[in-house]
Amino acid sequence: MEAGTSPVIELKNFRYTYLEGTPRAVEAIRDVSLEIHRGERVAIVGATQSGKSTLVDALVYLLRLGSGQVFYEGEDVTAPGYDRGKLRREIGVVFQSPDAQIVENIVGADVAFGPTAAGIPAEETRKRVEESLNAVGLSYPEYRLRYVHALSGGQRRRVAIAGVLAMRTPVLVLDEPTAGLDPRGRRELLDLLLNLRKERELTLVVCSAGLEEASLLCDRFVVLDAGKVVMDGPAREILRRSNRLAELDISLPETVNVASELKKIFPDFPTSLLTEEELEAEILKHLGAG
Ligand SMILES: Nc1ncnc2c1ncn2[C@@H]1O[C@H](COP(=O)(O)OP(=O)(O)OP(=O)(O)O)[C@@H](O)[C@H]1O
Ligand SMILES: [Mg+2]
Repeated sequence: MEAGTSPVIELKNFRYTYLEGTPRAVEAIRDVSLEIHRGERVAIVGATQSGKSTLVDALVYLLRLGSGQVFYEGEDVTAPGYDRGKLRREIGVVFQSPDAQIVENIVGADVAFGPTAAGIPAEETRKRVEESLNAVGLSYPEYRLRYVHALSGGQRRRVAIAGVLAMRTPVLVLDEPTAGLDPRGRRELLDLLLNLRKERELTLVVCSAGLEEASLLCDRFVVLDAGKVVMDGPAREILRRSNRLAELDISLPETVNVASELKKIFPDFPTSLLTEEELEAEILKHLGAG
């Protein structure tokens, strides 16, 4: 198998129904096929209940698949005898609710939990805990002995992220990482993730209900609607379909909203802009030209 050509993760005809066979059955995923290649940065975007979190669970095989297959590096993870420990070592997931993955009362112990369970020696673990806490903006000397439950929601999310970073997984999956944070906490967390993206060779999967953070972190969007993939492609191409996105209840990045307003004045103003820098450059260009 050649690196870069075969997908890291592949879902084939995945379907999932909660409470199957009962009157309360919910068809959460209705046939999703998806390939994620090494180094890709993919946003899974969709309105609430579109199936994003169910998809995340499927990626790490937390769900016994009803039908369909999941492959990791070409191997069928549902096959008998497949080493699922490998999935845990290689795919780090920050779940939608950080509290769901915090297992220890003390910050340092919680971040150390994963590496310790994976058999990483104590000294190496300590180093990773220090690095990971510092990386998420919780200084190691100040936070390592704090009680997790005395922290704010945003800080607990950082602890959850640090715990996953300490595992040094080549694949990182974040389910709505900035949900519930105030604007400043959001900004800080996004900066942190951007930094991480720059420093490490990561395959990144980010679930999001809107395109603001998806645009900052990812360059490919997979759009879900009621458990189906309705668009999948380069971020810029998807951003062009703003009417369809609005129908799907997916909020556009602020840059696109501003650009759409400017398009009323400058008909050739491009609207699929991903960053503030791009927007500024276009504004300058148009003002200069006009
Ligand atoms: N444990 C469960 N039991 C029953 N139904 C569930 C369960 N978890 C999710 N569902 C249902 O499955 C569908 C998809 O839910 P999922 O959480 O995957 O969507 P989501 O896109 O992550 O939503 P959100 O944006 O609210 O996080 C929804 O209709 C939801 O109500
Ligand atoms: Mg969700």
